[in-house]
Amino acid sequence: MHDRPLVLVGITGGIALYKTCTLIRLLMNNGCDVQVVATPEAFEFVGRTTFESLTGHPVFVDVHSSVAFQGHVELSKKADLFVIAPATRNILAKLAHGITDNALTLVYSNVTCPVVCAPAMHTHMWESYENQENIKVLTKKGVFFLSPQHGALTSGDVGVGRMQEPDAIFSYVRQLLDVASSWSNKKILITAGGTREPIDPIRYIGNSSTGLFGVEIALEASRRGADVTLIACNIDSSLLMRLSSKVTVFSASTTRELKDLVDRSMPHSDVIFMAAAVSDYRVINTSDVKNKKNGTNIFLELTENPDILKGLARTYKGKKLLIGFAAETGDNIYSSFEYAQKKAKNKGVDFIVFNEVGSHKGFGHGDTSVHVINDEGKVVMNADGEKKDIACELASFITPYINEVMR
Ligand code: C5P
Repeated sequence: MHDRPLVLVGITGGIALYKTCTLIRLLMNNGCDVQVVATPEAFEFVGRTTFESLTGHPVFVDVHSSVAFQGHVELSKKADLFVIAPATRNILAKLAHGITDNALTLVYSNVTCPVVCAPAMHTHMWESYENQENIKVLTKKGVFFLSPQHGALTSGDVGVGRMQEPDAIFSYVRQLLDVASSWSNKKILITAGGTREPIDPIRYIGNSSTGLFGVEIALEASRRGADVTLIACNIDSSLLMRLSSKVTVFSASTTRELKDLVDRSMPHSDVIFMAAAVSDYRVINTSDVKNKKNGTNIFLELTENPDILKGLARTYKGKKLLIGFAAETGDNIYSSFEYAQKKAKNKGVDFIVFNEVGSHKGFGHGDTSVHVINDEGKVVMNADGEKKDIACELASFITPYINEVMR
């Protein structure tokens, strides 16, 4: 983050553009450097000179004006935040589908900073199926939306579609800029997904973890400006594609491969979120060839895998922040919560993020419900909802603890 944050303001062809002039003023008066990136249609509503006078910079609109100035690359690298206001239905469709036919879409395709959209359009366009699907795609990619408001529209109709007011957009941007720098000097290691232990060259023992929660934590950590490393255990590539290119991704399949990568990454990390579902056992009598059916039973001999987190706790407790995850079920002796509580006390880590397995939440679902338990077995945070929102709450909760171990 620069001392004077560089905010790219993306402008498109909508009448709400007249309000964007006020937004730019607010940003500049509050210590931001602003650079405008436009679609050609924007100038049908407000002239280019207005934006150049307000910001003191040329507007980036013509991709082919200079070979030397690769605007989309240079601006994307320098930007601390990209706010598109107004965002038309057309631009949302282009961004959602990866179309890069003008300066604004090119910049979007290259930025790694947070992106905010403030849409403006007629109610029917806003509510249409295609538009709502495009918003879902962009939200999954981590784009923030300031939903349009209800009120009088240019057509004379009244309904949802008005772009939010400049001061609301400014406050939101200001908050995001504060958050975007909150982990800027922190190195975060995250493990996600589920390990697999081979039985033969084709079969394995595994679990149904998708890695979604770990990926949401990685997204949140990079949004906060951290240096993020994700160790992905058998995660679908479409999920990993949501991460920005700034996140370092390693792959591990078995528990031992994961341990090796964790042990090598840990000395350079301040925090570990051990969200991977790790196989506690591996097969000893693996076969080099596929086990064939022959009418008899096959016996697998299992041996215990090393407990990666427990090992880390022995070396790093008090020096780094260690966060474990526990998906638990209860039995007739203890409840799932009591098992998680025991884990929190015995593992030697700072926190255990506990979630109950068996409901329609947790493994493989977008929603979950978690209780964060400290090393004394006390619940210190509860959260319920979408994993991306819980990742954000978890990040806010642990921020003071990271600062403490880094002191
Ligand atoms: O003991 P249990 O497997 O339930 O503990 C869960 C936590 O410990 C998770 O954070 C998981 O990633 C970690 N773990 C580990 N090594 C293992 C098993 C689990 O680090 N062998």
